[in-house]
Amino acid sequence: MYKNTNLLIVDDDDALVKVFERVARDEGLTVAVARSGTEAIEVLNRQVIEAAVIDINLPGYSGMQLLEYIKQNQFPTEVIIITGVGTVETAVRAIKIGAYDYLTKPFDDVTKVVIIINKALEKFRLMQRIRVLERKGEETFAYEEIVGKSHKMRDIFSTIDSVAGTTSTVLLLGESGTGKELVARAVHRRSKRVDKPFVVINCAALSESLLESELFGHVRGSFTGAIADKMGLFQEADGGTIFLDEIAEIPSSTQVKLLRVLQEGEVRPVGGAQNRTIDVRLIAATNQDLAEAVTEGRFREDLYYRLNVIQLSLPPLRDRQEDIPLLAYHFLQKYAKKLEKDVTKIAIETLQILQNYQWVGNVRELENVMERAVVLVQGDTITVRDLPPRVLGEGFYLPEEPTSSDLSRFTYQEAKERSLWAFNRAYLSNLLRQTQGNLSNAAQRAGMDRSNFKKIVKKFNIDLGEFRKKSNVSEV
Ligand SMILES: Nc1ncnc2c1ncn2[C@@H]1O[C@H](COP(=O)(O)OP(=O)(O)OP(=O)(O)O)[C@@H](O)[C@H]1O
Ligand SMILES: [Mg+2]
Repeated sequence: MYKNTNLLIVDDDDALVKVFERVARDEGLTVAVARSGTEAIEVLNRQVIEAAVIDINLPGYSGMQLLEYIKQNQFPTEVIIITGVGTVETAVRAIKIGAYDYLTKPFDDVTKVVIIINKALEKFRLMQRIRVLERKGEETFAYEEIVGKSHKMRDIFSTIDSVAGTTSTVLLLGESGTGKELVARAVHRRSKRVDKPFVVINCAALSESLLESELFGHVRGSFTGAIADKMGLFQEADGGTIFLDEIAEIPSSTQVKLLRVLQEGEVRPVGGAQNRTIDVRLIAATNQDLAEAVTEGRFREDLYYRLNVIQLSLPPLRDRQEDIPLLAYHFLQKYAKKLEKDVTKIAIETLQILQNYQWVGNVRELENVMERAVVLVQGDTITVRDLPPRVLGEGFYLPEEPTSSDLSRFTYQEAKERSLWAFNRAYLSNLLRQTQGNLSNAAQRAGMDRSNFKKIVKKFNIDLGEFRKKSNVSEV
């Protein structure tokens, strides 16, 4: 569904961007340009980029951090880093993190640039072929309406592929908001039943007698209010798929009747004397531990085995962090369109916060948070200001405690840089908040001269407007 772009240039130096654009044009490549890390991430989440040329010196978020981001989130993009002269150490570190190669500024020989870019593209294509062979499908970000590229989700996609063509019952497990209904629809859509009905019923929403008459239908006069024969959902779904949501909630007498339907492929309407043969594919879902419900005697064991032919467990969102930016951008685009707002980006710190949040409500909660952010945002970029306090957490601006965050997976140098970054952001933000974004006051309190202080604020990508706007509001 996405067309690949060959090359992304990430640089705020217009002259260099021009050089790369010319080189790329001469080579017949499609090019995208980003002027900062935030812009680059927006591009990466929208299309498959085969290779990216990233300047190590970017305003705000550094090229190295962007490289880390790309590798951590398993983008297939091959990265070429641009460093200044005499920074071999940086280049080596970039390669260690996973850069394909590096270029040293200034470029005395453009042919070398061309060679490196073409080699990186060659490697991308080779890797892509391998990924296809391994059936990882890494080049696609969505399956039906299900957005995701983590290994966990790709496993789900390939299971759906292999079960869709069968008539086996599917049991979907997973916390609330993990996408069980989307998966049920995808199974139906990928099956031969696609032109027949897909019928959904929430078993928790109806009383016992209503549930039975909904599922199996009833004959006229079978109970008070049954003024005419009514066709049940099983019959409505004939030839198609029925999705029984919240299956753990069905009362025990209905469990018996459901078991009979599954065993015999026939339904009998409430109050009726005759069975009707039906051909229905059943998909059931629950966010409860159904095996435990069986152990505790709340759910029939024989029905459980009938339902549990193919089990699909949808992983909680916090266990597939690499899907979070992708989903965040997906919902950003959805709500920007719906609300007709011109929002296209998410600031990197904001993405990092989204990625590290626990998401008890899973994808549904993320969707709600993004919708709210699009409503609140001013300008084209979602920032921390647009996130609800519960996502930011208490003491958001306090420095990260190195022991509490997972720094041990980084080298000492990288861990130190990360901690320093967090410290700087926290220190500067607190100071600027207290001085309402007044640089002179803040510099004075920091014991620095104004111009040096201003440089640091710029380096850590702090938006002074954020602190100034707040003071305007309080003046009103
Ligand atoms: N992978 C995904 N890609 C895009 N949207 C998703 C994804 N997973 C979930 N959603 C969206 O999140 C919301 C919740 O998904 P869904 O209703 O399928 O969850 P569920 O597992 O059935 O939750 P519950 O147990 O609460 O019924 C829906 O709006 C759905 O479109
Ligand atoms: Mg659901």
